[in-house]
Amino acid sequence: MENIAVLGSTGSIGTSGLDVISKFPDRFKVCALSTNTNVELLRKQAKIFKPEAVCISGGSGNKGKFGKIMVYEGEEGLLRMLEDIKIDTVLVGIVGSSALLPVLTVLDKVKKMALANKEALVMAGSIIMNRAAKNNATVIPVDSEHSAIFQCIGGSNRRDLRKIFLTGSGGPLLKVGMSKFKDITVKQAINHPRWKMGKKISVDSATMMNKGLEVIEASLLFNMDISNIEILIHPEAVVHSMVEFRDGAILAQMGVCDMRIPIQYALTYPDRFDSGIRSLEFSKIKSLSFYDPDFKRFPCMALAYEAGKKRGTFPSVLNASNEVCVREFIEGGIRFMDIPKAIEKIMGLHKNVKNPGLDDILEADKWARVKTKEMIRCCR
Ligand SMILES: NC(=O)c1ccc[n+]([C@@H]2O[C@H](COP(=O)([O-])OP(=O)(O)OC[C@H]3O[C@@H](n4cnc5c(N)ncnc54)[C@H](OP(=O)(O)O)[C@@H]3O)[C@@H](O)[C@H]2O)c1
Repeated sequence: MENIAVLGSTGSIGTSGLDVISKFPDRFKVCALSTNTNVELLRKQAKIFKPEAVCISGGSGNKGKFGKIMVYEGEEGLLRMLEDIKIDTVLVGIVGSSALLPVLTVLDKVKKMALANKEALVMAGSIIMNRAAKNNATVIPVDSEHSAIFQCIGGSNRRDLRKIFLTGSGGPLLKVGMSKFKDITVKQAINHPRWKMGKKISVDSATMMNKGLEVIEASLLFNMDISNIEILIHPEAVVHSMVEFRDGAILAQMGVCDMRIPIQYALTYPDRFDSGIRSLEFSKIKSLSFYDPDFKRFPCMALAYEAGKKRGTFPSVLNASNEVCVREFIEGGIRFMDIPKAIEKIMGLHKNVKNPGLDDILEADKWARVKTKEMIRCCR
């Protein structure tokens, strides 16, 4: 029996993860769950999965609500829970940079990490991958594109890999004229045509920052130069990504758009089990199309390539500034097109730290948040 912790269990990845886990009661025992503030859903999940402990990162005063289950609270509480509980496998479904310290803490004890969170990797990918290697822990990506790449690479030799084609559906604004971008509402931005996801990643899909973050994520996960990672717009979202080997052979991974497939693969890796998820009906799809991305309409992608090429603390600054901007956009503080403008300005002010340690990365994250908030305040 594997003891499994689901971090961010009340989110889109977390709830899909628990759905997958519920199908394998002989393989997984849920030992820990966590939320930011959704105590009611956490209580329901705790009733069903009976974990040893739960954590509410963004709240306090809930200790009496979980019976005999240990309750941890606050950001520190999450780290303590990860140190205290016996965990073999962890699914990381926390959104944003708040996942970074939990990821590093839990990597000291687990054999396997199913990693959905991309922001922590963008900030500190090398530190995370080195920590995993040092501890003999396997990091398996959950992001559908990275799961696809991981599956296509399989047991091949990394030096045979020539190129990664990172596909993306193009998000909800693919066919919206650029003149309308200034009036894009939150409702339009989070209305993704193919995937049902949390709000932050949905806005990132609309600006296409999500694809940019994924490029950096792929370069760190697969130790690939960023210039060998190419984004392809693929509206049908059937091919979840592809890899090209140096002999010219290209492998693609396909399937229906259901996050439970990459989540299950990451959790049961290297085994595959029946998921009960419907098959792809090729004759109904008829054709598959691929286009180059439009960096002018979606400048966030270009900013991400720039940060990924410069490396150091730039990816951390890109990510932090983006997190602040997305939150402001969702709360009505800025407009859609202010997001890339603000990030570009903050990146222009940043002095890079090459080969940063964790402290440099956290410092850059903090700096970028303060600067972005100042800039937004002063432009109001
Ligand atoms: N959703 C997808 O299909 C998908 C696909 C690929 C990759 N990802 C990546 O997976 C991650 C999660 O995405 P999501 O769509 O599942 O997000 P989500 O629906 O917003 O869920 C986020 C989870 O993290 C918790 N959380 C939020 N802020 C936190 C904090 N400061 N400290 C601790 N926990 C916190 C949330 O708790 P509350 O419920 O209290 O807010 C929730 O449980 C993101 O990094 C995203 O890029 C998601």
